[in-house]
Amino acid sequence: MAEKKILVAYASRYGSTGEIAEEIAEVLRDVGVDVSVSNVLETENLTGYGGVVIGSPIYMGKWLPEAVDFVKNFQDDLRRVPVAVFAVGFSMKEATEENRESGRAAISVIRPYVHPFDVGIFAGKLTYDDLSGADAEIIKMAGVMEGDFRDWDEIAAWAGDLEPLFKDIS
Ligand SMILES: Cc1cc2nc3c(=O)[nH]c(=O)nc-3n(C[C@H](O)[C@H](O)[C@H](O)COP(=O)(O)O)c2cc1C
Repeated sequence: MAEKKILVAYASRYGSTGEIAEEIAEVLRDVGVDVSVSNVLETENLTGYGGVVIGSPIYMGKWLPEAVDFVKNFQDDLRRVPVAVFAVGFSMKEATEENRESGRAAISVIRPYVHPFDVGIFAGKLTYDDLSGADAEIIKMAGVMEGDFRDWDEIAAWAGDLEPLFKDIS
């Protein structure tokens, strides 16, 4: 059987979701998958990919618009291959059911277009000094604590369980 090629496509404003996408790709490479990683804004087509992972941070309760647009634009291709999605946000630093639900709610907008076999909800990273003026204002008003809350073991475990993406590899 021909080797499957997988795309990990991500949106990111300050880079932390891109690093999560790279970690997911590393785990998939370790099980023998041929993986590309690219920002959704730089992904022109899905030709040749036998599976796709799509991730975005959550801003004000929502996936970034370019991630939603990616799903809408490629919905026909995405219906033909296994798709897993993930969302990243500060609320997930406390993995309560309520916070996980807010993560799932952030991706409800893509449900009409794609049917992911798995949804990952991960804690992200916030660094005050990196933020644009407008984002810094919002975060200050909300009184959100900065920090890197990404749980690399949890992310790697999730990626390692994405079996529909690598089960056909000979
Ligand atoms: C202005 C702003 C709004 C945010 N809104 C949310 C939110 O509604 N829910 C959440 O869980 N995280 C929220 N976050 C946290 C980001 O999702 C988190 O920092 C993420 O890791 C950023 O990813 P990036 O570095 O790839 O852009 C917000 C962050 C900023 C700066």
